Amino acid sequence: MSSMRTHYCGLVTEELLGQTVSLCGWVHRRRDHGGVIFIDLRDREGLVQVVCHPDNADVFKGAEHVRNEYCLRITGTVVNRLEGTANANLKSGKIEINTTQLEVLNASVPVPFQLDDENLSETTRLTHRVLDLRRDQMQHNLRLRYKVAMEVRKYLDNLGFIDIETPMLGKSTPEGARDYLVPSRVNPGTFFALPQSPQLFKQLLMVANFDRYYQITKCFRDEDLRADRQPEFTQIDCETSFLTEQEIRDLFEDMMRVVFKNAAGIDLPNPFPVMDFATAMGSYGSDKPDMRVKLQFTELTDLMKTVEFKVFNSAANMVGGRVVGLRVPQGGSMPRSEIDAYTQFVAIYGAKGLAYIKVNEKAKGRDGLQSPIVKNLSDDVLAQILTLTGAEDGDLIFFGADKAKVVNDAMGALRVKIGHSEFGKKAGLFDEVWSPLWVIDFPMFEYDDEADRWTATHHPFTAPKDGHEDMLVTNPGACIAKAYDMVLNGWELGGGSIRIHREEVQSKVFRALKIDAEEAQLKFGFLLDALQYGAPPHGGLAFGLDRLITLMTGSTSIRDVIAFPKTQRAQDLLTNAPSEVDEKQLKELHIRLRGEQPKVA
Ligand code: AMO
Ligand code: AMP
Repeated sequence: MSSMRTHYCGLVTEELLGQTVSLCGWVHRRRDHGGVIFIDLRDREGLVQVVCHPDNADVFKGAEHVRNEYCLRITGTVVNRLEGTANANLKSGKIEINTTQLEVLNASVPVPFQLDDENLSETTRLTHRVLDLRRDQMQHNLRLRYKVAMEVRKYLDNLGFIDIETPMLGKSTPEGARDYLVPSRVNPGTFFALPQSPQLFKQLLMVANFDRYYQITKCFRDEDLRADRQPEFTQIDCETSFLTEQEIRDLFEDMMRVVFKNAAGIDLPNPFPVMDFATAMGSYGSDKPDMRVKLQFTELTDLMKTVEFKVFNSAANMVGGRVVGLRVPQGGSMPRSEIDAYTQFVAIYGAKGLAYIKVNEKAKGRDGLQSPIVKNLSDDVLAQILTLTGAEDGDLIFFGADKAKVVNDAMGALRVKIGHSEFGKKAGLFDEVWSPLWVIDFPMFEYDDEADRWTATHHPFTAPKDGHEDMLVTNPGACIAKAYDMVLNGWELGGGSIRIHREEVQSKVFRALKIDAEEAQLKFGFLLDALQYGAPPHGGLAFGLDRLITLMTGSTSIRDVIAFPKTQRAQDLLTNAPSEVDEKQLKELHIRLRGEQPKVA
């Protein structure tokens, strides 16, 4: 293998019995068995048991001094382990190394934690990231990440996609998040923006006749961080000319099936189910529904328009209001304490309460129902609720009534929470499967009440459905986009669209977004100009690589699949970035700080 070693530790097996091997690795654990010292030596392929006998005085003396995480080179003979001491969990579990030479390549100071400690805080792990990365799980995650990237490259390369780099120092593009800005030294008072995505460049590459492009590239968004978000993250970014929406979806759906199979042995369904945005919001309150959860909303808005119960009536009659029921089969057994906990949970999403009805015995009418709200509802309405929700004896129905956004967020989250709970799993409300889904037919625009204008649901370069072009001007709210998201187990894994390839349509969209001609020229002149040189029909999408690996590895946090991630506060605990800079650097950049700076904690 090299002049220093002949094999990887974790790959030495009984096939090498009797042979002399040289191995390099770290001391995972050292056990002194009174007279014989055992060292578990670890490298990236795993562990091997190294035995140091006192009859080799040099080796034994060396072994007495080594401690955890020392870096060693050992030479020895591969021998069978003693009868009954084999370790079935290790590839090297049947053998051990009878050491003839032991060399300490480098000592280690005492480590702050045991590498196989399962209960480390994230702060500890990120502060000592180098040691954390030596752990099995992190080794596995990052190698899987590499494998996925390789599979993606192979797949796309086969189809003629070529990897083209796009600038990191660019101009701010409106993708919805705040930009990370980089001051220009050479051009005082001006700033580059780090790319939120290569969106416009990939479109320009289509105009420039590259036909099929991809890039596995960093994107930067200064947004509030959550378990599935990082300020810098990696997209598998793709674009192609002359394919329809359906053809693009088919291609990338197949890519995902191949990548999941080849990289992780996971079989995704064929084909992926497809759901339009309206159904997703209507039945699940989310544009990325977790379809493993077997619960859905029942629309009750119309029914509640005429009831006397104010909570329901006012929501049902409010502009943009909504009332839904969420039937939970067998939920009648839920103790009051659990219902109270759910009431607190939905409050996080702005819900003002969580009405419910326990269906004890349908046949008895209202007497068979247990609830704080039945007294407010007529027999007829109660009967209709039972019919519409399909509730059976033993079930529970939760209700959400408010502005649609609050109902969707609160009841959508509740649906997922119940599905994933112990109760949900016992009651068969959760399927332990891989559940991909295309969500399509997004609206072109969403209304931003605060700014009092339409904003693009995806981004402003997304094409409207055929026949919807005129509505860009006459009825933007009803305009549907040729946009699609790929969802997996309730996470948005990727998204994209067919793009606008004609200048006049792009200008119409800018007008709908209240971007006037002058501003459009200033911000996007290069795009509008390029579209006029016979831009081809084109479209594409981008996947979040970090999210993909998070799901594949079953990690709870995106940080577990990134070598050097940022914390929830967008800090790197290893290098202590971001940090203050010298006055001299600021001066060169023509920057004066405004007053006292808040200290970075
Ligand atoms: P979008 O903004 O939907 O689309 O991003 C594409 C995918 O990138 C991932 N992603 C993130 N992952 C981690 N941390 C983040 N902060 C983060 N933000 C996004 C998600 C998401 O689905 N240019 C368009 C794509 C296109 O239209 O082709 C775009 O960027 O998995
Ligand atoms: P109240 O009349 O305010 O005591 O509420 C009666 C029941 O309705 C309680 O169980 C509340 O939790 C529930 N409730 C109140 N507001 C809402 C709402 N916006 N959506 C759903 N249930 C609600």
